[in-house]
Amino acid sequence: MKILMINGTMRKGSTYQVGKLAIEEIMQEGDQLTELFLPKDMPEFCRGCAACIRESETRCLDYLMYMKRFTRMIDEADLLIFTSPVYVMHVSGAMKALLDHYGYRCMIHRPEASMFGKQAICIVTAAGGGIRSALKDIKDSLLYWGVARIYTLGVKVGTSG
Ligand SMILES: Cc1cc2nc3c(=O)[nH]c(=O)nc-3n(C[C@H](O)[C@H](O)[C@H](O)COP(=O)(O)O)c2cc1C
Repeated sequence: MKILMINGTMRKGSTYQVGKLAIEEIMQEGDQLTELFLPKDMPEFCRGCAACIRESETRCLDYLMYMKRFTRMIDEADLLIFTSPVYVMHVSGAMKALLDHYGYRCMIHRPEASMFGKQAICIVTAAGGGIRSALKDIKDSLLYWGVARIYTLGVKVGTSG
């Protein structure tokens, strides 16, 4: 099984550690894990041109530099693991910027068929509030992409410095 971990922070703090613990529980011999970190692996904001929706995702100004590679990795994975710390009751801005780039993949636009056979886990950590809304931020996108099974895990942690 190919596992792709998409981290909404570059810190290897609580969120990353919780994600890795979950992966340790799941991974079996022969599984392959790839890790991506935001914003490093996709540092751009959506410009709102909507060329991806109206024409093709290859028209996105971020396609050649970042999205082509990112999308290939997502499409090849069997299990997607999204992790994000809660920032002001929601996912990190870096995670939101990535999800925005996949607006074209929503059911009402151009869903990608391989999503219907994938599973995903959404993991967020917070010091107090916002776990539910941040999990929803990720889950909403994955639902609209058509991911077959989506699991969520929210963990309260101490503030990390
Ligand atoms: C800018 C910022 C905003 C935050 N907003 C919230 C929040 O709304 N609710 C909350 O419970 N924790 C909030 N936190 C705390 C983090 O969610 C929490 O410490 C998280 O586990 C940090 O993950 P990390 O160790 O992977 O960086 C915030 C932290 C930062 C840096």
